Amino acid sequence: MDSHTVLYGVIGDPIRHSKSPIMMNRAFLETGINGAYAAFHITEDTLGDFIRGVRAMGIRGVNVTIPHKLRVMDLLDEIHEGARAIGAVNTIVNDNGRLIGYNTDGIGYVRSLKEEAAPSIEGKHIVVVGAGGASRGIVYALLQEKPGRITITNRTVARAEELAASLAGGGGIRLEASSSDSLEELCGEADIVINTTSVGMFPQVDQSPVPGHWLKRGAVASDLIYNPLKTKFLRDAELQGCIAHGGLGMFIYQGAYAFEYWTGQPAPVAAMREGVLAALQ
Ligand code: ATR
Repeated sequence: MDSHTVLYGVIGDPIRHSKSPIMMNRAFLETGINGAYAAFHITEDTLGDFIRGVRAMGIRGVNVTIPHKLRVMDLLDEIHEGARAIGAVNTIVNDNGRLIGYNTDGIGYVRSLKEEAAPSIEGKHIVVVGAGGASRGIVYALLQEKPGRITITNRTVARAEELAASLAGGGGIRLEASSSDSLEELCGEADIVINTTSVGMFPQVDQSPVPGHWLKRGAVASDLIYNPLKTKFLRDAELQGCIAHGGLGMFIYQGAYAFEYWTGQPAPVAAMREGVLAALQ
């Protein structure tokens, strides 16, 4: 750090568990960029002051996590089209005093899926389990990849129906909602099954949103959860001859996109992953 160091950070409540500072500072070190990235515990009451501070201090980039992804949108100068469609911002770029909101969660997930498990998504039948905020970002980003069909299922089917209806209409892609009753049949046909719910997350490591043996051999089983790195859903699907794709890559690539938006340089993804994995031990 010196008097040219450019500041970055992540805000959330809670925030002390975040692995973003380790990942991003490792990225700066690896690329030789003179940047420093910190975690800020910001509550709903201090969000406005924080954004004023970003402007005053010239903080170049901010990642935004729970519970601020929606409310922060009102405090920015511009919202990128993708973030507006998803209805949430997880990355702020300070472009010479103009604060622009992006969402890199969905595209980060898709880049991870393509790099690590399913090189092509075009024409594929995808089943998405869950219809919350995470699901929305992912379905939006998946639609840009021209899959053949996306079926959203959810414990509360009305939420899946709302999500499908609000994102429908692009490029002849079949986007539909389905009740959990037909989940077994759907999973048996799907090329990719994605868990976006918290079922299976630590400490509930013995739970699974979908029995892994419902998937067909060779299908991709994907889980947004990265604690544990391999959920019960993924372990069971692997026994069935499926390709397992865990959630760590989504975390890495959402950060990689943020890094690229801030610096204009390719993110050192391998080093970022190494840093996070070491911190998770
Ligand atoms: P996120 O931003 O992580 O997506 P969210 O918006 O609260 O969080 O959505 C959580 C999702 O996980 C929802 O799809 C939720 O189902 P409901 O809409 O029926 O509540 C799903 N979910 C959470 N716990 C679940 C459980 N025990 N069984 C099935 N689905 C669950």
